[in-house]
Amino acid sequence: MNCWKIGVIGFGNIAQALIGGLLKVQAIKPEQVHVCAAHYDKVCVSAKKYGVYACQSAEEVINKSDVVILAVKPYQMEKVCAPIQNLLKDKIVITVASKWNFDKFDAALAPGTHHLSMIPNTPVAVAQGIVIMEEKNSLTEEEFSMWKELLGKIALVEVVDSDHMSIADTISGCTPAFTAMYLEALGDAGVKHGLTRPMAYRLVAQMLKGTGALYLEQEKHPGAMKDAVCSPGGTTIRGVEALEQNGFRAAAMSAINAAMSKK
Ligand SMILES: NC(=O)c1ccc[n+]([C@@H]2O[C@H](COP(=O)([O-])OP(=O)(O)OC[C@H]3O[C@@H](n4cnc5c(N)ncnc54)[C@H](OP(=O)(O)O)[C@@H]3O)[C@@H](O)[C@H]2O)c1
Repeated sequence: MNCWKIGVIGFGNIAQALIGGLLKVQAIKPEQVHVCAAHYDKVCVSAKKYGVYACQSAEEVINKSDVVILAVKPYQMEKVCAPIQNLLKDKIVITVASKWNFDKFDAALAPGTHHLSMIPNTPVAVAQGIVIMEEKNSLTEEEFSMWKELLGKIALVEVVDSDHMSIADTISGCTPAFTAMYLEALGDAGVKHGLTRPMAYRLVAQMLKGTGALYLEQEKHPGAMKDAVCSPGGTTIRGVEALEQNGFRAAAMSAINAAMSKK
């Protein structure tokens, strides 16, 4: 078990997913974690859910931690960092804020601060996540490898150069929404043909999980995975044709292009 004391400033969706995932696999204990948010009454409720300590201020969180995760919205980051810059100087500082790469974060922190930018996706909550870590960082080699090892317990961790953080973030961070839509659509089709909704969703969710696991274990080309399910003149190839007629792959690529165009 990792013995770092972990502080979180901004205990919203992604911070709770990260801490929840690490607690779930017992990589850390609740008593190692101190959190704060904008509203103390609200953070008390979420802290209680995970058994971690709720603090009144960012200063209190930092004083009780070795590693501090900054998990506020990107537009709040500058305002949050400014008054605590000096306190963060002797800590390991991690940000999960979208578009806050090394250079931008370096300018907002005191010179010499050890920091790393990373982007987790929400399935870290169930130890099935992805964490994209920026290659350019100012952690020591030991800090970086310890942090990477810890997050490896709840995620596939990929180290990415600064220029490709945005696309890696889009491919792993936006797609849970697109995939949930696919899950919902296939579930609707199951219901149309008589399955109960809970069973339809369970079947599709397990299929998505299994298909991903199969790829990660065998690394066969996705086209070969498709071919392996399509018998000549069979039912699956008819479905493949219907997807092609409706621009399925083009729609998936357009969704990524649309998300990237905002970055
Ligand atoms: N959600 C995702 O899937 C995801 C994935 C990767 C990265 N991220 C990044 O993670 C960051 C947080 O996103 P989120 O979705 O978790 O947002 P969120 O659920 O809205 O959480 C934001 C948190 O920041 C707190 N906060 C706001 N102002 C603060 C301040 N001045 N001091 C301390 N805490 C403050 C909020 O407190 P109150 O609740 O009390 O207002 C809340 O706990 C963003 O930068 C985002 O880009 C999100």
